[in-house]
Amino acid sequence: MFRQLFKTKSLDRIIHESETASTKLKRVLGPVDLIALGIGAIIGSGIFATVGTAVAGDAMRPGAGPAIILSFFLTAVACAFCGLCYAEFASSVPISGSAYTYSYATLGELVAWIIGWDLIIEYAVGNVAVAIAWAAYFHQLCAGIGFDIPAWISVDYRSAVQAGNAVIQAGGQVDPSISLFYQAWIDHPTIAGIPIIFNFLAAAIVMIITWLLVIGVKESARANNVMVAIKLVILFFFIYSGIKYVQPENWSPFMPNGFPGVWVGASLIFFAYIGFDAISTAAEECKRPERDMPIGIIGSLIICTILYIIVAGVLTGMVPWNKLGVADPLAAAFAYVGADVSAGIVAMGAVVAMTAVLLVFQYGQPRIFFSMSRDGLLPAYFAKVHPKYQTPHVTTIWTGVVVAIISAVANINEIVELTNIGTLFAFVLVCAGVIILRYKDPDRPRAFRTPLVPYVPLLGIASCIYLMLGLPWVTWWRFFIWLCIGMVIYFMYGFRKSKLRQI
Ligand code: ALA
Repeated sequence: MFRQLFKTKSLDRIIHESETASTKLKRVLGPVDLIALGIGAIIGSGIFATVGTAVAGDAMRPGAGPAIILSFFLTAVACAFCGLCYAEFASSVPISGSAYTYSYATLGELVAWIIGWDLIIEYAVGNVAVAIAWAAYFHQLCAGIGFDIPAWISVDYRSAVQAGNAVIQAGGQVDPSISLFYQAWIDHPTIAGIPIIFNFLAAAIVMIITWLLVIGVKESARANNVMVAIKLVILFFFIYSGIKYVQPENWSPFMPNGFPGVWVGASLIFFAYIGFDAISTAAEECKRPERDMPIGIIGSLIICTILYIIVAGVLTGMVPWNKLGVADPLAAAFAYVGADVSAGIVAMGAVVAMTAVLLVFQYGQPRIFFSMSRDGLLPAYFAKVHPKYQTPHVTTIWTGVVVAIISAVANINEIVELTNIGTLFAFVLVCAGVIILRYKDPDRPRAFRTPLVPYVPLLGIASCIYLMLGLPWVTWWRFFIWLCIGMVIYFMYGFRKSKLRQI
């Protein structure tokens, strides 16, 4: 049984399957396309929303304060180690796929299942966070143009209740960081005595994206490039327009909560980097994967890190760090200094940027389910393709409905933490996979080789674990429960039905 659990799908078989598939992909992408692909997936609610909590902290955790720039740097280094491992993994299994496919070939079925199950956290749960942040910015954007959407359909119930209690405790004082939630608490209707507060906006955007994906809207390289341009322009706009409001005294104290604040900030802001791993899924469409993969991964990480650090510097220079714990910190910073038009422009850019991220992840998740189902680890029902639109509509709709429901009720910080721990764990397995594959299959051609193996993968593992340890224990518990549920499903279904074991 032990051997069965670690049975690997041979790389040759995976590559053969992809080559004989009717949808063989063309090798057209160069380094610039890959960098654009990376930036398209990376820049989203992390820099537009999570940065607020990472800087200001909240009742549960210390904030990094202006030292958030150190958090960004730390996280970028961790991601670079993992990125180099992803690049080797992806280029030795040069087909479209994800860490799930790569690990099936190297670490065996059980680990592949764990990674696939874990990737649900990165893609689907991560999208819940993006949808919630989207709703906050969209609400502000509409308010800015004089169209007031009720707060009680723009936030979750628990946050509204907490805000209500906090204001009572503060003797009626409303902290700006909870004003949207408090508004929901004040204005909500009740039906049969039940308060009605749910994040309809977040659920609605998820359902719209789901519908687009079912009818076959695919982010083409050109559409992605337009989105990337909008994201970059909006961040440059923030820097350019915000810099004149910077008051250097806001940068002091630089590290108000010492290094623990920087560490916790790094564990949270990791969310802003998630997505660079998606570049590796394009290995099969890459003209020269051996050269272009590392350029794409490291290049997009460097560009985003530089931008993030400058944005964070300007943000914490504009507004005292402890006032940034709001849902829409970049727009709120302009509102704080009285630049309402700029606030509106940033909110609009953020909405576009986050819509793009939603599309990328909501596109990716069903395809992972689809691969798992094709391998027999999930029921064949999930591998159904729509007769007219040729899309994996069953998994797309299931993903959409579940993500929408959770988006309507969840708290963004808890979701970000869960996404981070799940993604970091997947990265740990990928780094370990590179070492194992070098040992098990040293002669396999690798278009790209991670430098200094085993040191770089080991540093990747260590830095991911370090970031995981910065997350609260309750997140570890949630993640553990999630993995246990995955194990039960695997042993009750996948283990018996796996196609690999039936040949
Ligand atoms: N990195 C992505 C974002 O920040 C997930 O939205």
